[in-house]
Amino acid sequence: MSFKVQFHDNDSFFMVEEGEPILEAALRQGHNLPYGCRNGACGSCKAKIIAGEYIYPLGNPDGISDLEKKQKFALLCQANAESDLIIKARSINTTADIELRQLPCRVNTCEKLSHDVIKLLLELPKTERLQFLAGQYIDIILRDGKRRSFSLANPPHEDQLLELHIRHYDGGLFSEYAFNELKEKTVLRIEGPLGQFTLYKSERPIIMIAGGTGFAPIKSLVEYALKNNDKRNINIYWGVRKEQDLYLNKLVKDWSDRYTHINYIPVLSEIESINGWSGKTGFVHEAVLQDYKDLSEYDVYACGPPPMIKAISESFPDRGLVMEQFFSDSFEFAIN
Ligand code: FES
Repeated sequence: MSFKVQFHDNDSFFMVEEGEPILEAALRQGHNLPYGCRNGACGSCKAKIIAGEYIYPLGNPDGISDLEKKQKFALLCQANAESDLIIKARSINTTADIELRQLPCRVNTCEKLSHDVIKLLLELPKTERLQFLAGQYIDIILRDGKRRSFSLANPPHEDQLLELHIRHYDGGLFSEYAFNELKEKTVLRIEGPLGQFTLYKSERPIIMIAGGTGFAPIKSLVEYALKNNDKRNINIYWGVRKEQDLYLNKLVKDWSDRYTHINYIPVLSEIESINGWSGKTGFVHEAVLQDYKDLSEYDVYACGPPPMIKAISESFPDRGLVMEQFFSDSFEFAIN
């Protein structure tokens, strides 16, 4: 059996299954409601129940007072619907709506994705979750207070573990540490979520451009769009030096095989590596320019090194790209 949960101030609603926490159902269906711990402790998911019945199957949570209960507030992460509901809840529409937090985390998995990229899965304490929007990044705070920024590669609806893609750079302080010393269970400190690079609503088709590990936030954006049944055409250009650098090539190919609205165009820039390669070559932004004579009706999302972002912002407007339709995340690389 399922119940309808209606927002009191607009037409939108979502369905919640019997026995499913209301917050879980909302997030699953693309409604960005606020949350923190997701276990009844922090109170961030508090919402007013205007009409309808609910229960707390795990008992009364600590994050809500008796007075708040009397005032008809409920913690959506712990409450299950017992009937159709009308709720008054704050929604997270922009990055500014999310609280910036510092949290400890533990390395859950450290897995090599290619010769020079590892996937790091970070686990937060059981009582904490990090709310973020697809495409945002976090800082890892090193012992000396220095920071390294990494985009979150997982989409927000899969927030049990935070996924980072880390490329190895010779002499890079954190990347050397990550490749050579970081082990499962190592404790790190993070701050986030950060950044404005996230998916914006529009009716236009999308071009997504990733340079190297700039694929990480693109993965988050695409998985978020798929989860939300976003039917805009998404054309993914992934630029790397050699074929072996396409460290999640199969995943992106699977998206394009499975979904007719997703296209995948990998682009190799190192000429000597193209033997046997029938795909595109050269700089990734040039590959886009070869394919599109008029960009005025597209939204462009790009994440990669500064020269790639600069090349796009210098050349795409000549093809009609409106700068308000260009969203970018440029990652600087710091050795020390
Ligand atoms: S998210 Fe913390 S109490 Fe619900």
